[in-house]
Amino acid sequence: MALDEIKIGGMGASRRRVEDNRFIRGKGNYVDDIVLPGMLHMEILRSPMAHARIKSIDVSAAWEVPGVRLVLTGEMMAARNLAWMPTLSYDTQAVLATDKVRFQGQEVAAVIADDPYIAKDACQKIVVEYEALPVIVNPFQSMEASAALIRDDKENQPTNKIFDWEIGDKDGTDKAFAAADHVSKLELHYPRSHPSPMETCGSIADFNRATGKLTVYMTSQAPHIVRAAVAMVAELPEHMIRIVSPDLGGGFGNKVPIYPGYVVSILASILTERPVKWIEDKTGNLISTGFGRDVYLKGELALRKDGKILGVRMNTISDHGAFYADAQPSKFKIGLMHSTFAAYDIPVAHLTSSGYYTNKAPGGVAYRCSFRVTEAMFFQERMVQAAADDLGIDQAEIRRMNFVKDDDFPHRTAFGFLTDSGQYEKCLNIGLEAIGYSTFKQEQEEARKRGRLLGIGISTMTEPLGAGNSKEYDILGIKMFDSAELRVHMSGKAILRTGAMNQGQGHQTTWAQIVAHELGIPADDVTVEEGDTDTAPFGMGTYASRSTPVAGAAVAMVSRKIRAKARKIAAHLLEVSEEDIEWELGRFYVRSNHERGVTIQDCAMAAYSNLPDGLEPGLENNAYYDPPNLTWPFACYIAKIEIDPETGVWDVLQFVAVDDCGVRINPMVVEGQIMGGLTEAYAMASMQYQTYDEEGNCIGSNYMDYLLPTAWETPGFELYEVVTPCPHHPIGAKGIGECATVGGPAAFVNAVMDALKHTGVRNIDMPMMPNRVYEAIQTGKDIGGMPPVRSGD
Ligand code: CDP
Repeated sequence: MALDEIKIGGMGASRRRVEDNRFIRGKGNYVDDIVLPGMLHMEILRSPMAHARIKSIDVSAAWEVPGVRLVLTGEMMAARNLAWMPTLSYDTQAVLATDKVRFQGQEVAAVIADDPYIAKDACQKIVVEYEALPVIVNPFQSMEASAALIRDDKENQPTNKIFDWEIGDKDGTDKAFAAADHVSKLELHYPRSHPSPMETCGSIADFNRATGKLTVYMTSQAPHIVRAAVAMVAELPEHMIRIVSPDLGGGFGNKVPIYPGYVVSILASILTERPVKWIEDKTGNLISTGFGRDVYLKGELALRKDGKILGVRMNTISDHGAFYADAQPSKFKIGLMHSTFAAYDIPVAHLTSSGYYTNKAPGGVAYRCSFRVTEAMFFQERMVQAAADDLGIDQAEIRRMNFVKDDDFPHRTAFGFLTDSGQYEKCLNIGLEAIGYSTFKQEQEEARKRGRLLGIGISTMTEPLGAGNSKEYDILGIKMFDSAELRVHMSGKAILRTGAMNQGQGHQTTWAQIVAHELGIPADDVTVEEGDTDTAPFGMGTYASRSTPVAGAAVAMVSRKIRAKARKIAAHLLEVSEEDIEWELGRFYVRSNHERGVTIQDCAMAAYSNLPDGLEPGLENNAYYDPPNLTWPFACYIAKIEIDPETGVWDVLQFVAVDDCGVRINPMVVEGQIMGGLTEAYAMASMQYQTYDEEGNCIGSNYMDYLLPTAWETPGFELYEVVTPCPHHPIGAKGIGECATVGGPAAFVNAVMDALKHTGVRNIDMPMMPNRVYEAIQTGKDIGGMPPVRSGD
């Protein structure tokens, strides 16, 4: 009589995404769809220069444009103590520039007008006199003794260096290197890229002077954090601030930071006492909002001649742009970079990192990534491949030899993380089998005879998903837990609210499945709401694939609280004691008589109509979940590619993905996450990057230069699964959202390197555009850095 879990859309059901009913009908509700009575429109004037002193700003002509209601400059913001705001990494960032501009696209002034076109036209009438300053576009220029000082606004900032940081055992690592048979070295650059969500950033600020309440509709992956930050920056009482994130057209980390546009629209609404809408254009989004990566690596592996890794030494230099605005919740200056090599059993490691200001856009950094794990895993997998090639060892074998074994969990990594579960070798074996690894060498030789270069690239990794726990992770002191609130109505239908924020991952679908799994209430009977700080319980938002590990766990926990109360009601209805009651999906029954039972819906009705004495009416509760550890999904990605040596064009012949994200709530949604992630991985490996010319002009400011792969370019992906439940998650799930973006790029690059092994080329930095591959083939030399600036220039 227990319900069929798949039929009610519980765990394991590939339930169709309920949100798509609205999206495919064009009934999504994005910020730009919202129209409020009397709403004004705001446009931001951005700097054309990357580094320049502002000599004067003349806004008089803009004021004269009919329909203009307000023109704001940095000076006016400063008069209200709002010219600068704190960043999530304890730095400051200009809201509207006062002293100088520090990157191309920086916000200089804003016009608020009756319609967006008037605001845009009026922006053109603002005259800014700039005095050009020397421009710095990479950290190597930044560290020169003669380099212009970018942050001359700050006390105690005599150079462009933001931080020096290190972790690991330096002496132990030195000893391991001294004892090594071979040291394999590699220098890499992970280029700057941009999440580029379909929907740009935007906000509608609506300040009501009569009630004193500020409502802001905005594109935020973390509305509660925004509420706390607005309370701090704008000095408004927190209970008088309501942040609403409606549907988000993609986030990928781009919608975590707080951007100047949000702050300016809030002040504009306070001053005009009218709602003010700001919607960024695509170029504004690409040149000024949170980017990803831009890290240089010097990596070394100490190796025994049979391939055993004895020690890891890494030095990273990161380019943070003009303000240190990484949206990451750890005390580690370079995020979770030291999660690198977590899948491998390595005795000792040492990482040194330094970060620099440059005249480039700030912020973000976690593009579908847990705070630098993308770089960490990319560097790891490129170093492992180089080591295999240096020693002449099979690239699968070196991984197998060094993996943490199934019986060795929990495993403390050399950098101090605790990984707790996995079947790494099983995943690898499934991948190798699927790609046809055993016959590949022969295939490769035959192809060479035809003048084609074949290569296989493997990328295996475990990555930490689901920040907190709250002891080690916080944002501006706010601890990294998450929450869920469940209210079961008397008919047994329910509404669930969480502190997470969906941006396309399908939370409305999958959270209801967890409730169905725990309570037997069909998923279709559960409405899921997120993103409104007036109604959702406090949560830290969605990024770094933390929703399932943290908010998803809270959903399970709150459902269990509901079940515990329903059990008391069931005992009352069945006239037995609680101890005599058993649970099966959707139903309590008397242990001695399976036929005598009540459904969860019966209990819901009784919660409002027929309660035992002393029990509080209603069936609702909330849960705050503080995860004991991060979750550690594992992935094995294998690409088989073919290069045309005449052109440098490389095609993906086959791509195999084996993912272990623990128990899958919705296999179809998980597969969608992997497909999307792999598409972004392919984009970064093949075509997608942002660079800057020597004047700091952003190349990649539009979709002619910043290339997104369409269905035409994107290869097909074959997906396989392994399930190793997470031991500490209530339903055994691990995160999945970003795994493929994190682990995918190295598979493509390793495949191209494998195809070129015989030429002596050891590295081509991403993006591996055909001209770069062609040049490597022609010269037999590595291709490093990003055009036009090469590593070492
Ligand atoms: O934090 P974010 O939602 O970006 O990432 P996630 O927690 O990895 O989840 C992405 C989507 O995959 C959500 O809809 C999850 O519920 C779903 N998922 C799943 O069905 N099973 C898992 N083991 C992990 C995620």
